[in-house]
Amino acid sequence: MRTVLHNMKNKLKKPKPMNPNLPPLTPLTSPWMHRLVADFELQEALVQRWQSPLNIHHLGAFQENCREYRQILDTYNFNSRIFFARKANKFKNLIPAAVDAGAGIDTASFRELEQCLELGIPADQLISTAAIKEDRLITLAVTHGVLLILDNTDELEHVMRVAAHLNKQAQIGIRISGFNFKGEKLYSRFGFDIDEVEAIIHRFCDSPEAGSQLNLRGFHFHLDGYSTAQRGAALHQTLDLIIRLNLKSQEPVFIDIGGGVLMNYLSSQQEWNIFQETLKEAVGGERMPITFGNDGLGFTLRDGEVEGSLATYPYFNEYTKESFLKEILETPDASGNTVAQRLEQEHRELRLEPGRSLLNQVGVTLARVVHRKKDSRGDHLVGLEMNMSQLKSSSADFLLDPFVSFKNPDPQAEPVAVYFTGAYCLERDVLLKRKIQLAQLPKPGDVVCFVNTAGYMMHFFETEAHLFERATNLSVEKPDGPYQPQDFNPEK
Ligand SMILES: Cc1ncc(COP(=O)(O)O)c(C=O)c1O
Repeated sequence: MRTVLHNMKNKLKKPKPMNPNLPPLTPLTSPWMHRLVADFELQEALVQRWQSPLNIHHLGAFQENCREYRQILDTYNFNSRIFFARKANKFKNLIPAAVDAGAGIDTASFRELEQCLELGIPADQLISTAAIKEDRLITLAVTHGVLLILDNTDELEHVMRVAAHLNKQAQIGIRISGFNFKGEKLYSRFGFDIDEVEAIIHRFCDSPEAGSQLNLRGFHFHLDGYSTAQRGAALHQTLDLIIRLNLKSQEPVFIDIGGGVLMNYLSSQQEWNIFQETLKEAVGGERMPITFGNDGLGFTLRDGEVEGSLATYPYFNEYTKESFLKEILETPDASGNTVAQRLEQEHRELRLEPGRSLLNQVGVTLARVVHRKKDSRGDHLVGLEMNMSQLKSSSADFLLDPFVSFKNPDPQAEPVAVYFTGAYCLERDVLLKRKIQLAQLPKPGDVVCFVNTAGYMMHFFETEAHLFERATNLSVEKPDGPYQPQDFNPEK
């Protein structure tokens, strides 16, 4: 995207008046969040008891997402399974909740797998897609018969050695990448190159010398980004690969397409568009900044022109789980057969590993206001008892308006625009890069609630720098009625 805003060199151009209004980004929310946000005393009591910040999860909302996936997949005539990508959220209580709602668990490390086994999750409900598989992880998985998704020949050899030593057959899937899409190869650092994997599979899994240490159960890929067309093409190419392989001693059944199902965080496309236009105007110097230090979040100014594109998650999009999956499954191959038809006719099982989209509407993060100040630019900074690692997007910013509960709401107060700042001794510990418009200036003890933070935002990047303790995670199960502090449960 390249937008010409104005030519900075053109001295004759009359500057527009600086517009101080801030564009809102209203988040999608759920009744359980409203009950919490509307009750200052409850939030105060929770933050007092469990400290700030505090992550709260609604297990019912999470289970509803699991069931919704199941219902969508059940409308197709092929077998399918979903596995919750547990890396998206560390909270232990989500694991039994996922399994109760019919999902398995995709684990990404030794400790994630160990914890699931300790919780008594059956091995056939677990997979390991860890990027690094150290000896103890491979040994644990092979001992329990947990499916390992393998990525390279070192792993294949390692798993064979462990299986031989334990006198067990290892359950494996092969991760592939390098799919052809519109004449180009899709790059990934993960997986075997699809153009080279056949010889490797024949050598390790289907030759007289291979022995019986490996049981090849299926194939796996996880594509970066959110393209349904790429996922459709990759599925067809994996189905073709299975046919070409024509294995004698193995019957790979599943194709696991990982995660990356888009979710929508925002209630208004119009607000989303206005926000981006306003950000570009601010970056171009045509209005007051709407981000800390006039951060362009991907937009930059060069020779008086604003260039680039927003480098954040597409917080507004019109996909649902159903429409996203439908687009993938209706992708035709060269003969006009769709992915869904081929999965059915070729008796393959589709597997998904959603993380973020299973956590939609599942979590909020509460943080206590500690101080206010005005900086030398005249901006209000509101210091919160939390740090930047406790609300961190892997993209340029988390673009949802938070809610503030005031101990003493003042209907006469003037609206005020603020930045929320965190506890790390870094200039850049500004919790949201966006300036946020509030009904009144918060006071110490007021509580800020960031909504829909469960998928990656609340603690994927959390660190203990400065020896700050990690935030407590609580769950609430109560379906309706007012909440009491005792309705919130810590990790079981
Ligand atoms: C192998 C694998 N599976 C599943 C996921 C979950 O993806 P998402 O949270 O986008 O659904 C990821 C995310 O990085 C992944 O790498």
